[in-house]
Amino acid sequence: MRSTKCAQVITVINLKGGVGKTHTTWLLAGNCEVQEFKVLAVDLDQQGNLSRNLMQDPNCKSTLGSASLFDPSQDVDPTQIIQQSKFPHIDFIAANSALQPLDVASQKEWEPADLQFSLVDLVQQVQGDYDYILFDCPTKLSLTGFAALTASDFVIVPLEPADWGAQGVEKVTQAIDYVKQRHNSRLELLGYLISRIKPRRQYHQIYADELRSRYGKKAFDTMIPDWAGYEQAVTHAVPVNLRRPNSKEARVAREFFAEVETRIREAQSGDRRRRRRVSKNGLTAI
Ligand SMILES: Nc1ncnc2c1ncn2[C@@H]1O[C@H](COP(=O)(O)OP(=O)(O)OP(=O)(O)O)[C@@H](O)[C@H]1O
Ligand SMILES: [Mg+2]
Repeated sequence: MRSTKCAQVITVINLKGGVGKTHTTWLLAGNCEVQEFKVLAVDLDQQGNLSRNLMQDPNCKSTLGSASLFDPSQDVDPTQIIQQSKFPHIDFIAANSALQPLDVASQKEWEPADLQFSLVDLVQQVQGDYDYILFDCPTKLSLTGFAALTASDFVIVPLEPADWGAQGVEKVTQAIDYVKQRHNSRLELLGYLISRIKPRRQYHQIYADELRSRYGKKAFDTMIPDWAGYEQAVTHAVPVNLRRPNSKEARVAREFFAEVETRIREAQSGDRRRRRRVSKNGLTAI
């Protein structure tokens, strides 16, 4: 029986390391688990941190992982590389060192071969089986990140409340605009997520305020504090909503997920309104 799901596809990306990209993906997947949404988490970072936390056996080395999707000669059936995680609602595609050669920043090296479309088939084939598909990207803005953006509906950009000029946000935003114009007009920036904030550090608060005034509504209302409970959940490889459902960490994780859902709904209803306007003006019939 074919399900009627149609996954929302979200890329989590930033150029800066350690800002909480993988943690954001992990929080989203953890919320899906608790709310019984079926999710596919695709690890595109050769460090494999997300894969390790999801694997049933963390010592198991993946032979075929996300890198195989970028090799047209392998003609991989995406469904054969999807693994079941130790959580019933989370499947994943593992990262491994085979991603390393794909860490190519120059578009000239992969656009002629259309490799930026490498993840589109995957999404098309499995979108009906999942509520969410999540791409966790590496730190460098390379082929894998562009391919994730090309196959996604939405992007979340986690930021630390530190010098925003140094976080490569402008470059990421340019990459989003570039992909939207050239390869994937559906792509929408869901928001900038202020992450790892230490509320007691005054300069964090000042930067957070600065980011909010700079990005306006594009900054998520929810901020993810730097709390030990989050780090412990990662260390124990159990999402915080499952490990400590009544904790402050789990409450914020739920708020974040609720805001993601609201922003997706708003983006989609805005999109429908736009399409109706275009259709009414007789420019095109959709
Ligand atoms: N809100 C948080 N509170 C506490 N620890 C956090 C939080 N967010 C992330 N961490 C921890 O900080 C470290 C870096 O986070 P994470 O791996 O998510 O960043 P990243 O942007 O994915 O880094 P990389 O560029 O290496 O992929 C990890 O050990 C993670 O567990
Ligand atoms: Mg990461």
